[in-house]
Amino acid sequence: MQKGSENQTVSDESAALHELIRREIESQGPITFARFMELALYHPDHGYYERRLDQIGQRGDYYTSVSVGSLFGKLLAADFCARLEKLNSAGFDLVECGAHDGTLAADILTTTKNARQDLHAKLQYVIIEPSPRRRAAQRKNLAEHLDRVSWCEAIDDLGKGSVHGVVFANELLDSFPFHRLRWSRQQRQWHEDGVGCDGGRFVWVDMGGFGGTQRTGAADETSGPGSDWHAVCATAQALAEVLPDGFRLDYCPGAARWWRKAATALAKGALMTIDYGLTREELFSPHRHDGTARAYYRHAVDDELLAMAGEKDITAHVDFSALIEAGEAQGLITECMIDQATYIMRILQHSGELLDTASALAQQDRTALVTLVHPSGLGRAFRVLSQVRGG
Ligand SMILES: C[S@@+](CC[C@H](N)C(=O)[O-])C[C@H]1O[C@@H](n2cnc3c(N)ncnc32)[C@H](O)[C@@H]1O
Repeated sequence: MQKGSENQTVSDESAALHELIRREIESQGPITFARFMELALYHPDHGYYERRLDQIGQRGDYYTSVSVGSLFGKLLAADFCARLEKLNSAGFDLVECGAHDGTLAADILTTTKNARQDLHAKLQYVIIEPSPRRRAAQRKNLAEHLDRVSWCEAIDDLGKGSVHGVVFANELLDSFPFHRLRWSRQQRQWHEDGVGCDGGRFVWVDMGGFGGTQRTGAADETSGPGSDWHAVCATAQALAEVLPDGFRLDYCPGAARWWRKAATALAKGALMTIDYGLTREELFSPHRHDGTARAYYRHAVDDELLAMAGEKDITAHVDFSALIEAGEAQGLITECMIDQATYIMRILQHSGELLDTASALAQQDRTALVTLVHPSGLGRAFRVLSQVRGG
């Protein structure tokens, strides 16, 4: 046992969630943190993302670029229109995953409709959404655009080579369940910190060496090592002389799996993610000794990951190296990995006319622009990875 944590249950739903996690641990033994996170965030009845939709924005727990205002959607629309134009195809797909309540989709579709009717008429906007509740909310918020929108449940539902256009996600992959690993300097091996229960409290439990087959609660996104595991181990072994005992890595095999599937679906166009994340080299830097996992509750950040399950968001930085490798293995070419500020300034430089038509940068948009590009806002911490196929 390592470290205990206070589990304040602050609602009936949290109490129910706490109880069902406790029962799973009681019947199976300690579960991986990835499994804990899957239940805490995505349990179909009690999960953080299932029970409400107001987590994002001023009255929620955290901000995203989407919640800053419609400018972010207008900027993406400008970039996407420029890309679609170059594809010169009879029809285009924009595929969004992690669409939450559909705000970004509405902002993009409103912009294309107002500014580029020619492209808009050829557009199919596909939302990948496993949750029936979120699909219903999206349908409501996209009432004006239903002629252009369709849904599918999982990335696997997109046929191989079926997408001509852009597959994209904003702050999706940081919310995928991850494993909490700890480096044992003596054994030169990763150990997994799982979750046990002690007198009704969730506590960290050493589950032994990671990389074997003893995982519990294995579902696709939460099961053991992915294709990037080999590279992670190679990096750790290369640094073994200097990697301190107890160095943490928040390892998310689901992110690279998702990226690989998205890459497979892309016939021609771009695969993009906008998220906070690091290269593998950066993830292994000494000041990341405690990993990057964080919890967000009412705009305060903490590392009490086991407390208040279902009430807080849980997240970790994305490993961009793993995504780059997964995409390139599927034949994609890495176009760029740049910070959000640079990405936005490039759009303004190259596709600014569309924005002028759409919004003439109202005062509200100018304020939003500062938040989106300022280094102390979202401009530096967020990065854009884009990989392309077919030019
Ligand atoms: C941090 S929020 C970001 C929401 C939105 N993209 C934004 O930027 O405001 C992450 C969203 O991804 C969704 N999500 C997580 N895993 C998903 C998956 N496998 N498929 C689709 N959506 C998922 C969550 O339900 C949540 O709505």
